[in-house]
Order: sequence, then structure tokens, then C-alpha cells
Amino acid sequence: MTVTLDAAANAAANAAVNAPASAPANAPVIAAAAAPAASAEPTLVIDGAVKRYPNGAVAVRGVTIEVGQGELVVFVGPSGCGKSTLLRMVAGLEDITEGEIRIAGRRVNEVEPAERDIAMVFQNYALYPHMTVRQNLAYGLKNRGTDKAEIARKVAEAAAMLQIEDFLDRKPSQLSGGQRQRVAMGRCIVRDPSLFLFDEPLSNLDARLRTQMRLEIRKLQRRLKVSAIYVTHDQVEAMTLADRIVVLNGGQVEQVGAPSEVYARPASTFVAAFIGAPAMNLIPAELAGGALRIGAEAVPFAAPPAGMAPGFVTLGLRPEKARVVPQAERAGGLPFTLDAVEELGASRLLHGRAAGADVVTAADAALPIPQGPLALHADPADLHFFDAVTGTRL
Ligand SMILES: Nc1ncnc2c1ncn2[C@@H]1O[C@H](COP(=O)(O)OP(=O)(O)O)[C@@H](O)[C@H]1O
Ligand SMILES: [Mg+2]
Repeated sequence: MTVTLDAAANAAANAAVNAPASAPANAPVIAAAAAPAASAEPTLVIDGAVKRYPNGAVAVRGVTIEVGQGELVVFVGPSGCGKSTLLRMVAGLEDITEGEIRIAGRRVNEVEPAERDIAMVFQNYALYPHMTVRQNLAYGLKNRGTDKAEIARKVAEAAAMLQIEDFLDRKPSQLSGGQRQRVAMGRCIVRDPSLFLFDEPLSNLDARLRTQMRLEIRKLQRRLKVSAIYVTHDQVEAMTLADRIVVLNGGQVEQVGAPSEVYARPASTFVAAFIGAPAMNLIPAELAGGALRIGAEAVPFAAPPAGMAPGFVTLGLRPEKARVVPQAERAGGLPFTLDAVEELGASRLLHGRAAGADVVTAADAALPIPQGPLALHADPADLHFFDAVTGTRL
């Protein structure tokens, strides 16, 4: 189950962040006037952040992350790992138990949400139902005392960018889910914030629209060059959107890196199992005397990674790096029993067992399904090794 705010709480949060009741005394009305500084100062620094809720629950356990200028960082992890809490701490919707949050070099721990120069898109959009799209877009600016001509110009610009010009006079109830999502984004764009925050913004959309909107968000963020944090439990969304991924687990950072790095070199079995679909195969094994023992099989292991001590390990192998071939065709490998075949169109998954472990492999669907006694093969360079106890990459 995804932990989400109820609609009323979400609306209140939206009002605090995106549509403050009045302009903060010392904030510039149009943030766009302040061009991004030439320095490499990160837009956001989260420094040793801890969140302990009043009931004693610790949702965030010492997180340190930077978001560079124009960078899109995705927080990804299973439900309950602290993604929303961390995002809400950045937004100012939750106070910070320990640590510091800095936006453009300024400590904001004590700064009101409306004064943080951020804009946030929520899962349920949090649009005002009684207002038209145009009014929804204009509301935050109007409250800040922006002049009419400027509001009209910004609303028109955002509407064109999001292709919602034809719906400006409709109410949210007369829009599809995807159109509402665009309006919610438009409301953020008109404010020219220095940081966009997205909390699972596509979760309410069907699969097809989610894929389309994901791409649109990416293009828009690139075009606006605005820094952004995007929270999702969906690893595909994380991989496709992010400049950098932050994998969270139990309120802590498991790994930070570019999607390709996190995929190629997961820092732990947790990350290995979470990033990539189907998940990486994780197989108990023992490294002894230059051989890798898997179940009852001793597989001669040509090139043990330098410095790896003998002992128990968890072996990782991506399904797409594993090959199942008839034993008659190629010697060696692990005997493999094929249990089920899953057709995915361009590829197919072969589910089976090797040396007592469940193993899934992915193969080109154009190739014939291998028959007869089978064996599992992998290039030694494609094997990942993790500590059998801690799960840490070796
Ligand atoms: N207001 C709250 N009071 C107490 N615990 C909370 C509160 N909000 C969230 N939590 C707990 O904090 C943890 C992280 O929650 P959350 O940040 O919503 O996770 P995520 O967004 O990753 O699903 C969960 O264990 C959740 O139950
Ligand atoms: Mg959440």
C-alpha cells in the first residue's frame, strides 16, 4: 500500500507551498528576475537530515544529498522508506529533527514553505475544484500581488508549453486525469521556482498515460533547466527520468548515482533486487580454492575478482546476462531446469532452477526455446558479488 496524504491534507499542503495567502514581505514577486548564479552552488543541500515523528517513528535516518543546478534527482524506494517525508522536509511541510537543509546556500530549516522558492506537484493534483484552469494557474501569482498583464503572459506561456490552451476556461472536473496533471504542473511553472518537487505525480494515471507524461516531464524539466526532485516507488520511472537516482531503504540512502551506474554496479543486494525488471538473480554461493561453489556444483572460476577473500557470498546475475543453452551445445555451466516460459513480445523470460536456486533469464524471442538437458552460462565479467551477511557489494 502506498502511504499518501488524504485529499484535505494535500490541499492544505498545496496552499502552503504553491499558493501562499500573501506575498512574503521580503521575497521578490517574480523569481525569474533572479537569473541562476554562475557559481556551481548546488540548488539544494540536505545535510544529515533526520526526521522523528511525534509518535517516535523515525522516518529519515541521517540523509545527505545534493541537487545540482538544473539536475533532476529521483528518490526511489519501496513504500514507507521515507521518500515523502524527506520531500516534505525540503518543502517545509515537516520540520527537521536533526541536520540542515539549504536552498541556494541559505539554511531554510526555519523558513516557511511559501518563502523557500519551491513548487510542488502532488499525486492527487490538489487543484481548486471551483476555479477554472486559468484561475488555478493564476491563483498563486495573484496572491503574491503580481500585476495582471504579467499573470496573463505567464499563464499563456505555461498553457502553450503544456498544450492546455483549449481547456483554460474549464473546471478541473471537466478534465481527464492527464489534463489535470498538466494543470498542476502549469501552476508550478508560472511561479518560476528554483526547485520543483514531485511526489508520485503520475500514480493516479493509467499505464499508457504514465509513460507519456513521464517523457513530457523530462522534456519540460530539460527545457526549463530547473532543478527538481521526483519521488517514486517505480524503478522504471526512476531509471527513465533521473540524472541521478537516490535509492532509499528504511530512511537511509542505499546508493546515489546515475541510472546506468546504479544498474551496472548496485551497491547492495537491496539495490540489486530493486533496480531492474525482472530483478537480478541473487544466488547463495561460496568462493573457495579458486572455484565458485553453487549448491552442489563447483564451477571453476577463471578470474576471481582481485582481493576477494574466500567465504560465503551472494552471487548476482542479471536475467539478460544469463544464457540458457542445451548441454550438448556447450560444456560447463550450471545444470538448469526450465519451469516456465513467459512471452513479452520482443523478448521472453525463461524461469527455472539451477543449483537449488530460482533463476530467471531473458532471451530474444526470435531465438528458439532451448530443448533437452539445459545449462546456465554467464560471462564471469557479468557476475556481481555481495557479502552473504551484510549484502554489501564486494
Ligand atoms: N505523520 C506521521 N506520523 C508518524 N509516522 C509517519 C507519519 N508520516 C509517515 N510516517 C511513517 O514514516 C515512514 C516513512 O513514510 P513516508 O515518508 O510516507 O514513506 P514513502 O513516501 O517512502 O512511502 C513510514 O514508516 C510511515 O508510516
Ligand atoms: Mg510517499
